[in-house]
Amino acid sequence: MPQFDITIAGELNLDLILYGLPDELAPEREFLADRMTLTLGGSSSIVAHNLAALGSCVGFQSRIGDDDLGTAALLPLQQMGVDVSRLRRVGGEIKTGLTVILQRSAWRNMVTYAGTIAQLTWDDLDLDYLANARHFHVSSFYLQRALRPRIPELFREMKAAGLSTSLDTNDDPDDTWESGLREALRCVDVFLPNEREAQKAARVDNLEAAVGTLAEMVPLVVVKLGREGALAQRGGERFTSPSIKVEAVDAVGAGDSFDAGFLHEYVRGADLTTCLRTGNLAGAFSTTRSGGTEAFRDMAYRHKFFREHGRGSRV
Ligand SMILES: Nc1ncnc2c1ncn2[C@@H]1O[C@H](COP(=O)(O)OP(=O)(O)O)[C@@H](O)[C@H]1O
Ligand SMILES: [Mg+2]
Repeated sequence: MPQFDITIAGELNLDLILYGLPDELAPEREFLADRMTLTLGGSSSIVAHNLAALGSCVGFQSRIGDDDLGTAALLPLQQMGVDVSRLRRVGGEIKTGLTVILQRSAWRNMVTYAGTIAQLTWDDLDLDYLANARHFHVSSFYLQRALRPRIPELFREMKAAGLSTSLDTNDDPDDTWESGLREALRCVDVFLPNEREAQKAARVDNLEAAVGTLAEMVPLVVVKLGREGALAQRGGERFTSPSIKVEAVDAVGAGDSFDAGFLHEYVRGADLTTCLRTGNLAGAFSTTRSGGTEAFRDMAYRHKFFREHGRGSRV
């Protein structure tokens, strides 16, 4: 039996979320936010954290700075029981990454100092450790600047070792949607874009055409549709699942939480309807508190929410 359900290689950083700012920020003026949260950020680390919260056994490899932000980012993963024994802390000028999010009522600005996110390299990874799992996941393809050229090779190694694999690209800050994405997708079992990312990755401008194109490239395409829930396409088969009605605080990390819910079921061999339902449950749940993991840190709250909204779910 492998040691882990899922291993993840990727970024660990913090999100600083500021609420209550006007949409327009004039130069040279000072603006007051009415609320702030400093919380675990990074798509990879949010997926790792929330998988562990749901009860999956998770191994996580990353690279952070030997600084206070790194310590603050690491703590919630440790508290949730994610194995971080192979994570590297490297001193020097390049610090742990930070994303500043200006959350407006219906949209947000995001500014990222990538720092050590872009420094993670092939040499930081222990392939035997990563392969000691049933499933391997990569998030934030375009932020992994140093590792990205070898991500296709990484997926190939994991497939050769018998693991199933998944990828959530998240956004491409350069908006090119190239850099070996198609090569990486050849070794991916589950591709988890949102609606915009699906169209960008497929190079078409409507969702149906995107799903059709992507379904010819990967065995399972799962598209996150925000308030509309999610859909999955496996060859010619379509599965859909509505979202869960909630009062959303913000959607930071909703897609990553969806990934965690979906993959938690997927590695246990659940049917796709159950995978989608738990993905939607986890995505909606994350929106009810600040950031991507604050809701998941409160176990009593999570049990109550999943009991009330998650009929048929095992988590
Ligand atoms: N306002 C919302 N209400 C309920 N569920 C939501 C809401 N926003 C997001 N979700 C859930 O989170 C998932 C991911 O959100 P989405 O915004 O599509 O992804 P991403 O964060 O990657 O852009 C959705 O598929 C849905 O299940
Ligand atoms: Mg996303």
